[in-house]
This record gives sequence, structure tokens and C-alpha cells, in this order.
Amino acid sequence: MSAGLWITFEGGDGSGKTTQAELLREWCEEQGRAVVRTREPGGTEVGRTIRELVLHHRGDIGARAEALLFAADRSHHVATLVNPARERGEVVIQDRYLDSSVAYQGAARALGADEVRELSLWATEGALPDVTVLLDLDPAAARARLDAADKPFDRLEAEKAEFHGRVRDAYLRLAETEPERFLVLDATLPVGELAARIRERVSPLI
Ligand code: TYD
Repeated sequence: MSAGLWITFEGGDGSGKTTQAELLREWCEEQGRAVVRTREPGGTEVGRTIRELVLHHRGDIGARAEALLFAADRSHHVATLVNPARERGEVVIQDRYLDSSVAYQGAARALGADEVRELSLWATEGALPDVTVLLDLDPAAARARLDAADKPFDRLEAEKAEFHGRVRDAYLRLAETEPERFLVLDATLPVGELAARIRERVSPLI
């Protein structure tokens, strides 16, 4: 049986994570691998309820409560979906994981990167992906993409430009501290070129 493989995509809103995750899924399936495509928040049934609350609740949610909601979604997701798929030897391709919490709650909401990372590691009993692809994009360019997509903004997307600047800087710092896990790519590159670079990174592991 093949070994399980877990790949996560990170980056600001509008950086193209979902497009690249889909292209990677197609390629992995062409290589004969069973793939589980999932996301946080909202990769499970419980998670979909948490997603609705944390992204679309109309009243205030305190920063720590928000961090705990993302961590609760993550804990259930890893325990009931990600880990079982890895144990079956499947490839898990996921939009967002704990690096999102470190960047958005830890840095942009200023709760502290280390504390938020520890919270997620506690929630998941230390689970970390094999590869994390960071699609790096200037927040102004990302905002132009989101405006063009014409979807209503969620609670996080609606934050100010400065917030998204802090998210981006935090992601780049994370990638520097764990260069063996992260693949950092310039999200303004053509879709096909990004997909090729991601395949190049994943191919020895598949
Ligand atoms: P996402 O599902 O990528 O948005 P969409 O598919 O609607 O474009 O992410 C939802 C938002 O949640 C995004 O703004 C980032 C935020 N988020 C956090 O703040 N912390 C987290 O831990 C996660 C997983 C997401």
C-alpha cells in the first residue's frame, strides 16, 4: 500500500489556492492515487456548522473565541477525516490548515503566533502536513481579484488592508522557519506554471 500524503494550501484570500488544489487533485488521480479533497474550516459536517458561525455570524465574536472555533473545527477534521485517510494510504489535499490560524488569529488578530500554533497542535495531537504550498500575493492584488469575483465578503475577508498585510508577512515568516515543509510561490505566475512547480515538489513523494 502507498504511504499517505498530506498537502495543504495556504495564502491570503484570492491567492488561487482552490484552483491549484483542484489541479493537483487531478494530477494525483492520474498517477493512480486515491485523493481526499477537503478544507478548513468546514471539511466535516460539524465543521460546516462551525464555518457558518465563524465566517458569517453577524454579531461580534471575540478574537480568542474565534481562534478556538477554528481550532475546534481543525481538531474534529483531523481526527475524523484527515488521519483516517492518511492511514488508508490516500493523498489528502486541503485548503488551509494551522498556518492560517497562526497568520490570521496569531499575527493579524495579535493573539501571538506561538500560542495559536500550540493551541492547534494540542487540538490535533501534533499533526503537521508533509508539504504546505504558500501562494504569496500582495494584498492589494488579492483584493482586486476578490472584487472582480463579486462574492459577498466573509468576516475575515472584510478586514482592512492592514490586517491582510499582517497575514501576508506572517505567512512569509512561517515559511522561513520551516523551509523543508513550505513551498513558496509567487501567486501572480500563470496558473499552468504554478501547477507545474507544485507537481515538481510533490512528485518524489507520490
Ligand atoms: P476560505 O475557505 O479560504 O474562504 P473562501 O473559500 O470563502 O474564499 O477561508 C475562509 C476564511 O477563514 C479566510 O478569510 C481565512 C479565515 N481563516 C482564519 O482566519 N483562520 C483559520 O484557521 C482558517 C482555517 C481560516
